[in-house]
Amino acid sequence: MASAAAKLLTDTVSRLMGTTTRTNAADLVVAKIGAGEAQAARDVVAGLARRTPVLSSRSLSEQSGGNVMLKAENLQRTGSFKLRGATHKISRLEKPPGVVAGSAGNHGQAVAYAARAQGVPCEVFMPSEAAVAKVAAVEAFGGVVHVAGESVDACVDEARRRARDTGAAFVHPFDDLDVILGQATLGLELLEDVPDLAMVIVPVGGGGLISGIAGVVKTERPEVRVVGVQVEACAAFEQSLREGGPTTFQARATIADGIAIKRPGDITLPLVERWVDELVVVREDDVAEAMVWLLERSKLVVEGGGAVGVAALHAGEVVPAERGSTVIVLSGGNVDAGLLAAIAHRHETTAGRRLRLFTRISDRPGGLARLLTEIAQAGGNVVHADHVREAVPLHVRETGVEIALETRGAEHSRSIVASLEAAGYSVRRLDEGSSTDGEDR
Ligand SMILES: Cc1ncc(COP(=O)(O)O)c(C=O)c1O
Repeated sequence: MASAAAKLLTDTVSRLMGTTTRTNAADLVVAKIGAGEAQAARDVVAGLARRTPVLSSRSLSEQSGGNVMLKAENLQRTGSFKLRGATHKISRLEKPPGVVAGSAGNHGQAVAYAARAQGVPCEVFMPSEAAVAKVAAVEAFGGVVHVAGESVDACVDEARRRARDTGAAFVHPFDDLDVILGQATLGLELLEDVPDLAMVIVPVGGGGLISGIAGVVKTERPEVRVVGVQVEACAAFEQSLREGGPTTFQARATIADGIAIKRPGDITLPLVERWVDELVVVREDDVAEAMVWLLERSKLVVEGGGAVGVAALHAGEVVPAERGSTVIVLSGGNVDAGLLAAIAHRHETTAGRRLRLFTRISDRPGGLARLLTEIAQAGGNVVHADHVREAVPLHVRETGVEIALETRGAEHSRSIVASLEAAGYSVRRLDEGSSTDGEDR
């Protein structure tokens, strides 16, 4: 009994000490931002990072009924806001023999870029699933890449170990005072560039970006609403806030890989609790649609993690401010071209602009030509055709065909099917009912 009581006491004390350490570090961020240190960080960050534009979006404004603008941080050097935090952090180190980071890509690219600019060798631990483009970019910026484990969290642990072994400085992706102050510089730009700022919508992974932005925004203009967005497959903050401390979320794979952080930071969790007005969660499908929407309408390449704010607005998870401007932060643009193409294709299908169908034709000369002529007359553009003879019930003189075609939309797709049926073809649509939600990809 006595030893159980002693253990309980020890556990309680260490939990309280943990809380105290967390709170102190978070309080230090609050104090430094209050003392204007984000402004000092800005002088350093401006030496390397771009001041990215804030773009108005008429269609988002019309759709949502507010004045909506986009902070195009996807156009930042290295492709994401991470350069701000990395540049500031490395500038604060005293002649390190090297820097080490663990990252799914964006932080790694930023650390490699900032390290090279400051003449410091850099190593980055990346998960095996990291986007090919991100791995290549880290290497192009002179970083040495080690593939280490499944998750970002595992890579961060590896990086920390490596730093301990080699004496290099470990650069945390979000749970670090100087990284947060670097990210805060984005908030300073918003305060200057959007004088009627009423709301800012920010993607949330480990919480460094939103802590920095919220810190400067709430310090200067407490009435501005700060809303964080997580993706359903990795909504770690909600759970940790509910449970009163950082806990590990049972994450699923997501196209928003940049924000797939399973455990909020010890510093960022109390900051989010203090400064963020609302946290919302979006679905995979909404993120994919937002990426395509940004590509088509705003001509912006934005990765999944960077597009969650637009997804939240589209899905009605966030309502923009009635008065003043609402800014959505597009936090990054690093996405593999192949993934973007797959998402765009899927969107065409969902929007009814891609029709896939199966039918049977006569296995005689001219059978396929007749079918293609019918499709052409109905205005469909065939992009792929395959003969299918295996595992389908066919008459001896028949063959199956699978056809993929571009159409003008759902109505046009239906009319093409109707024309083919009227011409005597029996048609089965293969494109309906596709969804990525709930899949563990
Ligand atoms: C594109 C992108 N957006 C947003 C975030 C979220 O940043 P943070 O981890 O500081 O919350 C990240 C990284 O985590 C990211 O790569």
